Amino acid sequence: MRILIAFASLSGNTRDVARMIRARCEAAGHSVTWIEADVQTLADATDRPAHDLYLLGAWTDNAGRTPPEMKRFIADLVEAVGKPERLAVFGTGETQWGEEYYCGAVRRMAAFFGSGYPRLEIEQMPHGERDALKIQRWTDHVLNCTENMPHADPARFIA
Ligand SMILES: Cc1cc2nc3c(=O)[nH]c(=O)nc-3n(C[C@H](O)[C@H](O)[C@H](O)COP(=O)(O)O)c2cc1C
Repeated sequence: MRILIAFASLSGNTRDVARMIRARCEAAGHSVTWIEADVQTLADATDRPAHDLYLLGAWTDNAGRTPPEMKRFIADLVEAVGKPERLAVFGTGETQWGEEYYCGAVRRMAAFFGSGYPRLEIEQMPHGERDALKIQRWTDHVLNCTENMPHADPARFIA
């Protein structure tokens, strides 16, 4: 599959998670378009915005908010391809902001797109075997679900 991974990361935690997801996708033989929304736009990163699967990641800003760079990226994405069905959301946050706001951006983004995939929420930077396994399992699950979904345009797999 052609997979687009786009994320916003202020201090690197979400980038670390994105890197681990990317490695898992590539190890499974998929091709990844990589977009750091803080410094790139959709148009900078790809001349063909349509992908088979979209993985969007973000840190969470004040009181559960989505960072502005990711909001801008989402506006570009929706303009280019609408709200894709095959879109999953991941991110990092800190529970010290309160349960109500923990990883609020991940929840808001998933709700905005009506994502049917589980969300991946990691506390601060991913560390240890436990987080590595959680990220691997989430990625594998998202890939498996997507590959087993009936495709809107089956001809593309034959071509
Ligand atoms: C100004 C500010 C506000 C934050 N607000 C929240 C919040 O409401 N909820 C949350 O879960 N984390 C919050 N955090 C924590 C970050 O989302 C968390 O540290 C995240 O892992 C940073 O990711 P990054 O390294 O990819 O930038 C906030 C951090 C900052 C700097």
